[in-house]
Order: sequence, then structure tokens, then C-alpha cells
Amino acid sequence: MKGLVLAGGKGSRLRPLTATGAKQLVPVANKPVLFYALEQLVAAGVTDIGIITGDTAEQVEAAIGDGSAFGAEVTYLPQPAPLGLAHAIITAERWLGNSRFCMFLGDNFLRGGIVPYARHFRERPCASQILLRRVEDPTSLGVAVLDGDGRVQRLVEKPREPVSDLAVIGVYFFGPEIHRITPTLVPSARGELEITDAIQGLIDAGHEVRAQTITDDWIDTGKKDDMLEANRLVLGSLQRRIEGDVDAESTIVGAVVIEAGATVIGSTVRGPAVIGARTTLRDAYVGPFTAIGPDCELSGCEIEHSIVLEKSIVRDVERRIADSLIGREVIVERSPLRPQAVRLMLGDHSRVDIV
Ligand code: G1P
Repeated sequence: MKGLVLAGGKGSRLRPLTATGAKQLVPVANKPVLFYALEQLVAAGVTDIGIITGDTAEQVEAAIGDGSAFGAEVTYLPQPAPLGLAHAIITAERWLGNSRFCMFLGDNFLRGGIVPYARHFRERPCASQILLRRVEDPTSLGVAVLDGDGRVQRLVEKPREPVSDLAVIGVYFFGPEIHRITPTLVPSARGELEITDAIQGLIDAGHEVRAQTITDDWIDTGKKDDMLEANRLVLGSLQRRIEGDVDAESTIVGAVVIEAGATVIGSTVRGPAVIGARTTLRDAYVGPFTAIGPDCELSGCEIEHSIVLEKSIVRDVERRIADSLIGREVIVERSPLRPQAVRLMLGDHSRVDIV
């Protein structure tokens, strides 16, 4: 079985973070969300992996290389435009050939991985096997309607009126039958070839489409709060590991990772939290469920339940920062300049809550 990982798309719901960067490279517990997908495919014995790329291809390729660091062999498949998930399958068709494959959306985070589902699909192959999860609000997702025997009857993409609470999550298994359906698809209202329409096409053509309803934690990390939630889940099972330098005036409590080269001076870190390589904390408090990236500088500040990406600086901020997502090379600092005012230099689509 091959793997097809989708790492194109626009990431519009995570702007400005994704204005220039790939949404799949935004880190969860200091590791790009895309890496979890690759690791989970490899853990399920899927090592021949095609990665669909878009405008951010260069960054994705730089982060993953030839895949050998993951134990995989990676082929890059550039998608000419983000025309939908089913269009990604068309883009990959020649590379996929007649192989069965697992398609994994690079911004989807599935806590427990895919081993049992991949095994099931190998043992009982069918045209498509999809994974469903009950969600409170399915209106921004693909949704499945099952018949009395648990067979998939109908799939609806982002229904305005909820037709069921079973969301189709971003891990799909397909046989080569799908390539006979994709050429028949027409773009949806959002101008994309929808994967739900492709699977519906398989059902309508009389192929077996099987669904498994999972209870494992699953997050589509497209938005800030979803990123924080994924961060919280991963940090929840963190093992303590202190490799950086911690001075005698600092207190490190609970499940905390301090990477090599990091320096902690006169600070408190209360886990679960991770402090990236070469980052400095000085007179700072880092509270639970926080991931501070590499090469950051935090001094005279308090932060919790937040994600800070690499090379950012937070200095002398009196109020505690919480529930925040701070990008790369950002500076947040107290300023002595008069008039005393909040001075902002924010990218498009930024959001600031001030008390
Ligand atoms: C896509 C699919 C949708 C699925 C979702 C899972 O939505 O179209 O059916 O439920 O991924 O993350 P999109 O992220 O393109 O809005």
C-alpha cells in the first residue's frame, strides 16, 4: 500500500501564520503537524509516500527531504493549483498506478495513529474505507449518513443543515477503482473537486465503501484553537527530559522538556511544557500546555496554554499571555516610549485581544 500525503492548500484559516508558510508545518509540541502523519504512515508499514505540494513546496521539501529521516521514501507531486482533494488524487494518478493507498491530509492530527485501520484495509480490501468521528458541529466538514447496517449511504460536504453528526476525517483508504470516478467529477460551489463526491461516486457505482467510527482524538488543525487543542493533547503525554541548562534559582515542575542548548535563568516552568533548543528564559514563567520553539528569548513575562514559534522574543510584558499562537521572529515587548500606547505591527488577518 502506498501513502498519499496532502501538503498543498492555502491555510487561509491560520493566517497570518500561513500567509507565507505551509499550514502543515505549523508545529504541535514543537514538531510540524505533517511529521505526525508521516510517522504514523511509516508505523503502519506504509513507506512509499507521495506528497502533494502547492505554493509552499519549497518549505515542505526542505523539512522532509527524501523521507529517509522518517524511514520513508518520498516522492513530491506538485499540484498545479489547489483544486480539491479529489484533484490531488488525479495529480497523483500516474504515481499511484494500480496500488491501493492511504490518503492522509497533512493538517489532520489523529492522536493514536492508523495502525489498526491500515491492517483492516489490508486484510479486507474494498474500494474505499473511511474513518468517521462524532462531532458537535459537522457543518464545516464532510459528513456521512449510514444505513441501519452501518453501511455508508450518502456523503455530504459541509452540510448547511446537519444530516448526521458523523464527520469524515482526513484519513482515507482507496483501491484503484477511485481513478474511474475522479474524471467524472465536477467542481463544487467552492470550486473544488470534493473527495466526498468521489466517494459518493464509488457508492453510486455499486462499489463497497466501508466506514469505521473511531473514538480516538482527532483534530483538523486549520484554526488557532484547534492548534492549541492538538498541542494540549500531545503535551498531555510528555515525558520529562531536561537537556538544557537550568540555574539554581529556577524551578521546573512536572512533565517538562528542555532541549539541549536552552538556558533557564531565575524562571519557573510548570509542565506539561516544552522549551526548544537554544531558547533562553530569564525571569519568566512558562505554564502548562505551552510549547516554546527553538531560538526564542522570553524574559520578564508569563505565558501559558500557548504556542510560540522559532526565533521570537517576548520581553517585559506585565500581563500574563494565554491562549495565544505567536509566529516566527515575532517581537512582543514593553516599550518605554511616550506616549504610552499599544503599538502594533500586525500581518493581515491578525487578531489581538487587549484587556
Ligand atoms: C476536507 C474534506 C472534508 C473533511 C475534512 C477533514 O475539508 O473536504 O470532507 O471532513 O477535510 O479535515 P477542508 O479542510 O478542505 O475544508
